[in-house]
Amino acid sequence: MDIKTGSTAKLEIDGKVHELAVIEGTEHERAIDIASLRSSTGCITLDDGYGNTGSCQSAITFIDGEKGILRYRGIPVAEMAEKSSYVETAYLLIYGHLPRKSELQRFSKMLTQNENLHEDMKYHFEGFPSQAHPMAILSAMINASSCFYPGQMQRPTRDVFDEQAARLISQVRTIAAFSYRKSRGLPIIYPKPSYKYTENLLHMLFSDVYEDYELRPEVVRALDTIFILHADHEQNCSTSTVRMVASAQANLFASAAAGVCALWGPLHGGANQWVIEMLSDIHSSGDDGSRFIKAAKDKNSGKRLMGFGHRVYRNYDPRARIIKETCDTLLKTLNISDPLLDIAHRMEEAALSDPYFIERKLYPNVDFYSGIILRALRIPTEMFTVIFAIGRMAGWIANFKEILDDPKGRIYRPRQVYTGATLTSYVPMGARGE
Ligand code: ACO
Repeated sequence: MDIKTGSTAKLEIDGKVHELAVIEGTEHERAIDIASLRSSTGCITLDDGYGNTGSCQSAITFIDGEKGILRYRGIPVAEMAEKSSYVETAYLLIYGHLPRKSELQRFSKMLTQNENLHEDMKYHFEGFPSQAHPMAILSAMINASSCFYPGQMQRPTRDVFDEQAARLISQVRTIAAFSYRKSRGLPIIYPKPSYKYTENLLHMLFSDVYEDYELRPEVVRALDTIFILHADHEQNCSTSTVRMVASAQANLFASAAAGVCALWGPLHGGANQWVIEMLSDIHSSGDDGSRFIKAAKDKNSGKRLMGFGHRVYRNYDPRARIIKETCDTLLKTLNISDPLLDIAHRMEEAALSDPYFIERKLYPNVDFYSGIILRALRIPTEMFTVIFAIGRMAGWIANFKEILDDPKGRIYRPRQVYTGATLTSYVPMGARGE
């Protein structure tokens, strides 16, 4: 619910002044309400890349990019990472409050009840080539899963939504594990009801048919922390995509599958894979990182320092700080020495004292160190963005629910400033020349 400030913004076009209401969110971010702009002035706004556009009002996640703040439903992300679990975080994001014991038990039970894929879905995995990227499989299988459960293609009631949300959170993990096993030619491992959420993913990824993977608490905790830190991030590219699709009243699975596609891009979630590719290339070329940093500053090189920079954060990404600590601790505990971590440390230090990065306020983002943790957990590089998608599912579902619950919801439909040809006549083929 927006707060009317009583202030107005005055806009003068062709000598005529138009007054626009200024509204304010609960954290005092102010916005000019332009809902009536086109009808009263004939103009639209143009904001390439949406850097100044609020596309919705949302009560889920708050970010202050200048101060490096990220809160889920008001709770600082660092507190969630320290004290909570991914499942509890998902509940908080989706339902708006920390669950009471009975609520968490019910939610966890629903996740367990929905963890197995419909048995017929297994055959779909056979159709993908073994080199298929797991993000392609993930989006296809999430979309396909709506075909297997009657009623899921429609706009859900509250009870049906609860079941759909639980199914999606639970099954995204099963789909991810199955696609990994398929890509390695390994037999599928089914989830175990006695395991908790993140334990079960590790089990499905790494157990053998005759021997269970040894679940080390520090490994489980590190992966759970990654899920918590990726759980939501307000109106980023994939979440906006989910909301866009949901606004057309598409079902939850179609909306989430679209989110997976958007996340896959290297400027978004795909960056965690590209950070490791970049660090590996630097390592194998014998560079200590300095040559790459020089190239990243040169616009003609086509290179960027992956894992650095963020549209919203103009300060250290709070998630990156926690990930970096988790990474250092985990590698020490597991007694792993990774040359890529040394390169990453050196590059961070160099970039943070380099005028190019300082002037542009480019800091490490969540992806800079997460890949090194995932490597230590033996998760293959092509699965990194899938891990991100598993975590982000909670935020996508929470945003879908906001659209679902909004009685005044309208289809998202931006406008454009047309720059193409003016009225032109059709030319018959014979008159077009050779
Ligand atoms: N390396 C080198 N230069 C950079 C980088 C980088 N990683 N990021 C931004 N810049 C430069 C740009 O070239 C531009 O310079 P200019 O002002 O001289 O033209 C300036 O910094 C501003 O950059 P924009 O691209 O306008 O910033 P934008 O907000 O559009 O992009 C983005 C943000 C996509 C994250 C960008 O910083 C980037 O490409 N980073 C690398 C990819 C990455 O790590 N993505 C993950 C983001 S976090 C996430 O999605 C989970």
